[in-house]
Amino acid sequence: MPTLQVDFLGSTLRNPFLLASAPPTNTVEMIARAFDRGWAGAVTKTIPLEKVPVRNVTPRIHSIAFAGFAEEARRVYAFGNIELVSEKHADYWMDGIARLRRDYPDRFLMASLMAEAAAEGDWVELARRAEAAGASAVELNFSCPHGGMPPHAVGAAIGQDTAIARRITRWVRAAVRCPLVVKLTAAVSDLRTLSQALALAGADAFCTINSFPVILGVDLKTHSPLPSVAGRGNVGGYTGRALKPIALRATAEVAPAGRPISGCGGITTWEDAAEFVLLGATTLQVCSAVMLEGYDIITDLCDGLLSYLEDQGAERLDDLRGRALHNVVPHASLDATARRKSSIDLETCTRCGKCAIACRDAGYQAINEAADRTPSIDEDKCDGCGLCIQVCPVWDCMVMRAV
Ligand SMILES: Cc1cc2nc3c(=O)[nH]c(=O)nc-3n(C[C@H](O)[C@H](O)[C@H](O)COP(=O)(O)O)c2cc1C
Repeated sequence: MPTLQVDFLGSTLRNPFLLASAPPTNTVEMIARAFDRGWAGAVTKTIPLEKVPVRNVTPRIHSIAFAGFAEEARRVYAFGNIELVSEKHADYWMDGIARLRRDYPDRFLMASLMAEAAAEGDWVELARRAEAAGASAVELNFSCPHGGMPPHAVGAAIGQDTAIARRITRWVRAAVRCPLVVKLTAAVSDLRTLSQALALAGADAFCTINSFPVILGVDLKTHSPLPSVAGRGNVGGYTGRALKPIALRATAEVAPAGRPISGCGGITTWEDAAEFVLLGATTLQVCSAVMLEGYDIITDLCDGLLSYLEDQGAERLDDLRGRALHNVVPHASLDATARRKSSIDLETCTRCGKCAIACRDAGYQAINEAADRTPSIDEDKCDGCGLCIQVCPVWDCMVMRAV
């Protein structure tokens, strides 16, 4: 009988799904409620020391949404936020971690920690207190993009500097025995070198990734970046579906470091989760999908992933972990002799003309249209780029076939 149980950093989890450090883990009560719904674990909202003032602005969350069909008028595919770390400080969280540990002894509870780059004592204090409170692991936040707290070297400013990140990892490694996870930013040129350096410095696992730094948009009337705080904005963190491709790339880059990975970024469906596993992830962290749909998505995530295990004839996620990694190869290693051409299913084609326009103005002028807009592929001209399939609004109407 297949199982979703995974072993992660010395603990056995009922399923691979953890709530990421974010609004769904804002309070101890919320984490407890998520555990009651079936989440295997959670990462606390990032914990600052008492002396760090955390003053959030309003509003601090904006989104990019599709204008969809009538029944789906607005469909968010990315959030951008300028939220800071937890407004609740270490005292609250350490007490809360102890309570959650007592009430939910089988759940994986990570304490997300942040201090300034040079503040060795603060990092050590936070990690020791989290360990003493009973955290299953500590997650070092080297990755939040909007360093809203002075001085500047917090979050991603640390994750973008190998020397600083390595130094902090060593401090914490020397201070505690509990597992140490480093949460990375993908806003660097190459995560391979960084992850290998941090593994050597004592990181037991990585979380790939935190939100990506962006300016989500600009209000055309007020000229303010979005979200607009009294007419001004800031670089924020991009999350949700749109982040997934960046997070998948990061996961594949970090896999060679040989440490377990907690995949994070855009996981919305069980299919997304499976993709992270195939690229090497052991656990899976979720934030934006819960912001959109609530804790109960855990049921669909688990049911779907379990069915996928069955379909693949696998007993455990371990059997599938990293299976896609050997297929990620340099471009020069791709088989340039494997030729494909487009084909159209005229039964489902709506004669919208999108494929012909795309091929005419951005392709190879290989799609001819009859007077009633029925398209046909000119096989001599079709180069097999695949653009027509991507712009076709009907699923599976156009496919590539081998020639
Ligand atoms: C509003 C908001 C606040 C967040 N706060 C934190 C935080 O305090 N610490 C942290 O490590 N990540 C934080 N994150 C990032 C998430 O933990 C996660 O890495 C990111 O949202 C990508 O996952 P997702 O696409 O499932 O949302 C925050 C994300 C959002 C949307």
